[in-house]
Amino acid sequence: MIGLPDFPWDRLTPYKELAGRHEDGIVDLSVGTPVDPVPDVVRRALADASDSPGYPLTYGTERLRSAAAGWLRRRHGVVLDQADVLPLIGSKEFVAWLPTLLGIGPGQRVIFPELAYPTYDVGARLAGAEPYATDGLLALGPERVPLVWVNSPSNPTGKVLPAEHLRKVVSWAREHGAIVASDECYIELGWEEQPISILHPDVCGGSHEGLLAVHSLSKRSNLAGYRAGFVAGDPALIRRLLEVRKHAGMIVPAPVQAAMTAALDDDAHAEEQRARYAARRAALRPALESAGWRIEHSAAGLYLWASNGENCWDQVRALAEKGVLVAPGDFYGAAGDRHVRIAVTASDERVDAAVRRLQ
Ligand SMILES: Cc1ncc(COP(=O)(O)O)c(C=O)c1O
Repeated sequence: MIGLPDFPWDRLTPYKELAGRHEDGIVDLSVGTPVDPVPDVVRRALADASDSPGYPLTYGTERLRSAAAGWLRRRHGVVLDQADVLPLIGSKEFVAWLPTLLGIGPGQRVIFPELAYPTYDVGARLAGAEPYATDGLLALGPERVPLVWVNSPSNPTGKVLPAEHLRKVVSWAREHGAIVASDECYIELGWEEQPISILHPDVCGGSHEGLLAVHSLSKRSNLAGYRAGFVAGDPALIRRLLEVRKHAGMIVPAPVQAAMTAALDDDAHAEEQRARYAARRAALRPALESAGWRIEHSAAGLYLWASNGENCWDQVRALAEKGVLVAPGDFYGAAGDRHVRIAVTASDERVDAAVRRLQ
């Protein structure tokens, strides 16, 4: 059996019960799951494609790949050919399996940020490789490293890596023979700062060699329930990944491919969703501050990274006593043990309830 970390969410259960005892019910801000409707334009596309008896292509339809390439160009200044896009069954699947798909294994290190989404670690372990959390690539010395993950905007901190930082990561990786996989699933949710893709010419100098950008429609288009994402970048890597994924049956269902195409072609619904999150964030942030929490980073994405200076579990308890459930920072790495992560993904009504309880 592969040694995997305990699923940490179980440790939150007693606090969920505590928060649930509030007379007006729980406000659950512990997970980043969308709560607003799937946009009509996407639901129609899914329904229209529901008569899909044959096997879909692992590579996806050309329409889908073109919609993804068009979105990258239109919204993020990234120019690439539709051939260099590969659909994913949600981006988590790819994060968990990329080291394995690339043939990375024992004796090799997979690098990811010190405070990070736990699945980078899981992906290294599934491959039998060594998970290695660090924000300091330079300290690794001359060692050859097969894969480095970056995540901007970050889950959990909401920190945005500027172009200059990402440029340094790319040039370090190119000197060390490493692939850079950039998890950009929150890229459309820049607030005080605007995120930039690893594939943008200001970051990569116009060459996508050794680079993969991972995108998700879960947050932008409320499609977490459809499982919809894609990866784009280095043509040789995309072809290699396509070959393995074909053999492994990692195929996005045809109706979901049609739904993704409609979502990527349409910006209006994404703007509407952005506005909803902006309003919830604008309500929660000052309420937390007035209740004694300091907000750090959080310049983009779906989370407020907050601290009142105490141990993270004491903060979880204090908020659960008010009927508000949040995630402890140590779920994302030991460096998070004085922070909590507060998602802005509850309904307006629940966010209003949280704001009242914090006052
Ligand atoms: C940093 C990060 N990457 C990937 C994912 C996975 O998203 P999905 O599988 O829904 O595309 C998440 C989900 O919250 C995330 O926070």
